[in-house]
Parts: sequence; C-alpha cells; structure tokens
Amino acid sequence: MTETIPLAIVGCGGMGHRHMYGLAELTRAGLSPFALVGACDPDEGNANSLADQAAELLGTRPAVAGNLEALAAATDVAAIDLTTTPRYHHTVAVEAFERGWHVMSEKPLGLTARACQLMVQAAARHDRVLSTAENYRRDPINRLGKALLDSGVIGDPRLMLHHTMGGGDGMLISVWRHQKDASGVLLDVGVHFADILEYYLGPASTIYAQTRLHEKTRKNPVAGKGVTKGGGVYERWQTDMPAKFEATADDAGYSTMLFESGAVVSYIEDHASRGEGMWKRAIFGSRGSMDLPGDRSGRRLTLHLPGQDAESGAALLDLVPEFRLDAATAALFGGDRLFEYSFEFVETDRKLIAVEYADFGLAIQGQSGHPEVSGAQGQRSVAIAYAWMESQVAGRSVTVDEVLNDELNAYQADINDSLGI
Ligand SMILES: NC(=O)c1ccc[n+]([C@@H]2O[C@H](COP(=O)([O-])OP(=O)(O)OC[C@H]3O[C@@H](n4cnc5c(N)ncnc54)[C@H](O)[C@@H]3O)[C@@H](O)[C@H]2O)c1
Repeated sequence: MTETIPLAIVGCGGMGHRHMYGLAELTRAGLSPFALVGACDPDEGNANSLADQAAELLGTRPAVAGNLEALAAATDVAAIDLTTTPRYHHTVAVEAFERGWHVMSEKPLGLTARACQLMVQAAARHDRVLSTAENYRRDPINRLGKALLDSGVIGDPRLMLHHTMGGGDGMLISVWRHQKDASGVLLDVGVHFADILEYYLGPASTIYAQTRLHEKTRKNPVAGKGVTKGGGVYERWQTDMPAKFEATADDAGYSTMLFESGAVVSYIEDHASRGEGMWKRAIFGSRGSMDLPGDRSGRRLTLHLPGQDAESGAALLDLVPEFRLDAATAALFGGDRLFEYSFEFVETDRKLIAVEYADFGLAIQGQSGHPEVSGAQGQRSVAIAYAWMESQVAGRSVTVDEVLNDELNAYQADINDSLGI
C-alpha cells in the first residue's frame, strides 16, 4: 500500500477550481493517491471558495493559505498543483522545489523560455518531479489518432494542417490572456497545439512565422452583468473585468514548421478573425490521411484511405488491435478502446484533469519513471510558441533549439525584464 500524497492547489481561480473538480473525479473513481490538504492563493476569497467546494466534494476542508510559507506552516505538503496565472509559475515552482515538494504546473510551463529553464533546473537540482498539466493529448480520441499513426495505417506523415480561426475582438476568458507580460493568446493556446504537434510528429526543428496583433482593443461582453444561473466557472470573475481593454500580445500566427522526421506543418492560429470560423487538424501520410476533431469534443476522427470509404467508426479499432487506454483514462471514460465519447464539456474537462493527477501521482510514487508531459516537454511547447513570435521579430526562420536555449529572445526581452530574470 503506497502512502497518500498530501497535495495543495496553489492558485485558486478558474483552473484551480477545475483541477479540484478533477481531483474529486479521480477520488470518486477510487484512483486518487492524493489528499487535498491546502488551498493557497493571496486572494482569500478565491482560496476559501475552493476550500469550501472541496469540503463538499472531497469531505475534508483543506487549510487556506496566502503563500507557500503560510501553507508550509499550516500543514504538511509533499506536492503542489500549480494553477496560478503564468507570470508566477517559475517563482512558485522554484520555491516549492526548495521546500522539497513535487510540482505539477499548468501550461504554459513558464512565462518565457528563460522562466521555464529556471523551473526545469530547480526540479533537477532538488530531484523532484515536475509535470506539465497538458490535457489535450490525453483526450482518448488523440490517443486513438496517435495509435493509428504509429501503426502506419496512413504511412509516413508528410504534412499536418492545424488551422484555427475565430475570436474577433472578444476577450478570451480573461484580460491577462491578452497581455504580453502576463501571457498572450498565442502562448496560452499555442502551447496546447505545440504539444499536440510534437505528440503526433515528434520533435519540431525549424519554424517560419508571421505573427500579428490585429485587435488592439478587446471587448468583454459580460462586464457589469450579473452572474447567470448555469454560467461558466469563470463568469463570476469576468463580470468584474472591464468592458474594453488594451491588448498587448500578438493574437494571430501564420507559420510553416519543419519537424525532425521531415514532416511539414502548416500552422495557423488566429484569435482575431471575423467571418467564417475554422477548425482543421489533419495529417496527410504516404498512404492516406486522418482528420482529427477538436480536443475534448469526444467527436470521432476520420480515416481516409485511397479506394475506400471514409472510416470513423468501430472498424478503426480493428486496425490497432494492441491499442489500450491507460488504466485511469479507461476507468474514467468507461472503456479502454474508444473511438468516441459523449459527456458535457465540464465532465470531460474534469476527467482529463483527473488523468493528469493520476500520471503525476505515479511519477511521484516512482512507478512510471517520469510524468508523461515532463517539465522538459512543457518547456519545448513554450519555446515553440515563442518561436512563432521570435521568427516574426527576427524576420527569418528560427530553430526551436535557439529559442529553447534562450539564445534568441528579442520578443521575450521585455517580459524577462519585467520578471527580473
Ligand atoms: N489546460 C487548460 O485547459 C487550461 C485552461 C485554463 C487555464 N489554464 C492555465 O491555468 C493557469 C491559471 O489560469 P486561470 O484561468 O485559472 O486564471 P485565473 O486568473 O482564473 O486564476 C489565477 C489565480 O491564481 C492566483 N494567484 C496569482 N498569483 C498567485 C501566487 N503567487 N500564489 C498563489 N495564487 C496566485 C490568482 O489570485 C487567481 O486566483 C494558467 O497557467 C492557465 O494558462 C489551463
């Protein structure tokens, strides 16, 4: 019998609450190695809100603290789940490692490539687990897509398209997501897609991008409106955010990427487009192609092979007889060989977060060696996201390595200055 791991959630905003729902989901499934002992946030209201809901869902109210020192004084902690805004990830993580705690950090791992380095180095120095809470690849449909790709059914991948368009001048969840010194949408969302691209294709090597800040004023449609019944988890904070605000981070990226395998990716991520919205993710190989649905949608992927009808049903599973979801995903999603699923978004969301927790727990207990999305992998995603912006500033194609190693950092320079790193 392995010992329960005392865990604190640090950062009790929208994602902190969602993570607690994920922990409760894992606990209900009888698979949680964690006990939630702390809710830490300088915003007392947010910390107490999370602690109150945890008391209901988990049966015990975690201690509330405003910082890590107060947390350590209040309770024994062995691991933290880091869900603060990105600007604080590196300072909180480094302090946690110094206290001997393991860390699962929300994406983006750090606010800049340099901030990520500090986190990865501190984890290694203190020999603690650093896991990136990257949820998209853990979607059972992406697991099936990856198994199909690895089976060679579409042959060698030649080209991957990842095109997303939409957003206009609307606020994406919160003000800070549009501010360069707090995040920026191409970092916030881009790290998910960078992780997906490397999950499917292996390491990215070279990137050429044009990036833009199209919408310099963003609008918040719910400003000043009351909280609605059934409104999303963020609504109570959004109603207090300004109706209009200045955006400082690039909001659109148009890029061609080369991968070490020789595969090419056409990448468009435009959070400012108007008119027809777009979602397209597809991989074209030497024998066929695969259309992939939106992450967390539960929709089916579609396989296209020459001379055959498009296939998106159970027959896909016959092509990958060895394909099995990991134990936690299978238990939570109700089967170890899925080609679709159907849950409300909030339920899918907490199941995938539960899977992240299960993975983090196994890594801490030494059962898996390391978490699936390590700190180093989370660091690569941040480097890829900034490589789009750095390519724009440099006016040339750039390598992922020069951004990863912090040799090319002109776009990030003022962010690093503001962080004092
Ligand atoms: N994986 C996903 O699907 C997903 C979705 C949303 C957010 N996120 C990530 O989760 C993180 C949090 O985002 P959010 O939407 O919850 O933001 P949020 O603004 O709703 O909440 C952030 C919270 O962090 C707290 N905080 C700030 N500094 C702190 C510190 N030093 N110590 C403790 N708490 C501190 C704030 O007071 C606030 O309560 C971000 O990194 C974001 O990118 C991931």
